[in-house]
Amino acid sequence: MAKTQPQPKHNSCTKFVFMITFACVVGLACIINLASSFSLYSTYLSITSNWVSHKPPFVIVPKIREDPEISNKIGDVVLKKKKGHTSDSKRHLSATFADLPAPDLAWEQMPSAPVPRLDGSSIQINNLFYVISGYGTLDYVHSHVDVFNFTDNTWCARIDAPKYMANSHLGVASDGRFIYVVSGQYGPQCRSPTFVTYVLDTHTRQWLDFPPLPAPRQHSDFRYAPATQLWRGRLHVMGGSKENRHTPGLEHWSIAVKHGKALEKNWRHEIPIPRGGPHSRACVVVDDRLFVIGGQEGDFMAKPGSPIFKCSRRNEVVYEDVYMLEGDMKEWKVLAPIPKPNSHIECSWVIVNNSIIITGGTTEKHPVNNRMILVGEVFQFHLDSLTWSVIGKLPYRVKTTLAAFWDGYLYFTSGQRDRGPDNPQPMKVVGEMWRAKINV
Ligand SMILES: *[C@@H]1O[C@H](CO)[C@@H](O)[C@H](O)[C@H]1NC(C)=O
Ligand SMILES: *[C@@H]1O[C@H](CO)[C@@H](O)[C@H](O)[C@H]1NC(C)=O
Repeated sequence: MAKTQPQPKHNSCTKFVFMITFACVVGLACIINLASSFSLYSTYLSITSNWVSHKPPFVIVPKIREDPEISNKIGDVVLKKKKGHTSDSKRHLSATFADLPAPDLAWEQMPSAPVPRLDGSSIQINNLFYVISGYGTLDYVHSHVDVFNFTDNTWCARIDAPKYMANSHLGVASDGRFIYVVSGQYGPQCRSPTFVTYVLDTHTRQWLDFPPLPAPRQHSDFRYAPATQLWRGRLHVMGGSKENRHTPGLEHWSIAVKHGKALEKNWRHEIPIPRGGPHSRACVVVDDRLFVIGGQEGDFMAKPGSPIFKCSRRNEVVYEDVYMLEGDMKEWKVLAPIPKPNSHIECSWVIVNNSIIITGGTTEKHPVNNRMILVGEVFQFHLDSLTWSVIGKLPYRVKTTLAAFWDGYLYFTSGQRDRGPDNPQPMKVVGEMWRAKINV
């Protein structure tokens, strides 16, 4: 059994110093913000209550999905603009967040997960799907793994997580038996990340300890939603954001692993990732190449001085970047961008027929009302041509959904879904499971 516990003394000291620094920085930022742009500040205020609010929004996003004509017009406008014509800036902006034209898939609803979850993680090992922790609500986080069996389509097991394991925004990777759970956020609302890392042996269903991430100073690093993957016998961890949940980290570490154990004492520094950021990137290894897809800079963070670390939304930049490492890992290659900026997709991908399939996510905020906009498309990245296509629509737009592939079917479960076909803003946290046959 896992024995590691974060040292509370060190923890609270770090937290205290951090809170003071943080309060100063945020105070200054607010003043600058107020002085330079009142409208930006008021947007921030109105958004803070938006995340899990079930109230209808004040501003309704245009019904782009309902009208394919609008999408076509947007395409025209963008094209004309490229040729040097002036155009309506509102329409041009619209192209970022609008639904893309996509074929329908025949979705079939399957048994829901035992609990709804947001910002959870998942690992598929053959016919078993391990769905890990996450938020139930902003004030309640899970601390267990639910297991789905694709052979008989049932939720067949529950495994409790170690007491001090993070509850959301984990970095996860698996070798087909052991599941590595790196860092992540400990506790509800917008609490800080933890530095502890654990390994689940799926054969014995026991948790093992693992060396925490290194840090420049004497103590261990905290990382929130880092991109994590196993590659060439080493566990790679990169990016994510730092203690305050918001500041992007560019670090990239690796450590040799075998059978759930570290083979080295220390993590090794690898080539830093070109863009940092918490959350939400798909990190995939296939054919001895490592891909990092999408992501964002900035995220919700704790309201200064809030005793419960209440989440408040900050400026986020969602990106469409796709990077690849291969060969001697000397440089990141920049590949074709995703068809739209996309984040909250860390466990929303599967590998099928020499391609990476990605389900849902979040894209750039609405350019006018600044609301968070969810993604409802299924994207395919072709590993031979390194190009993208849009291969389908989900039954609804959803972020941090957990994807799997079994016997010709694309599955997804959990996440936070939209407010309806006409409104791509986030609303309900779900545990629903869906599947559709795909042909790619
Ligand atoms: C999954 O379901 C199949 C068919 O019912 C069963 O044979 C198998 O033991 C199940 N696996 C687990 C781990 O429950
Ligand atoms: C994968 O490719 C094979 C061979 O072309 C095809 O028969 C199969 O249907 C494809 N699978 C999916 C899920 O598209």
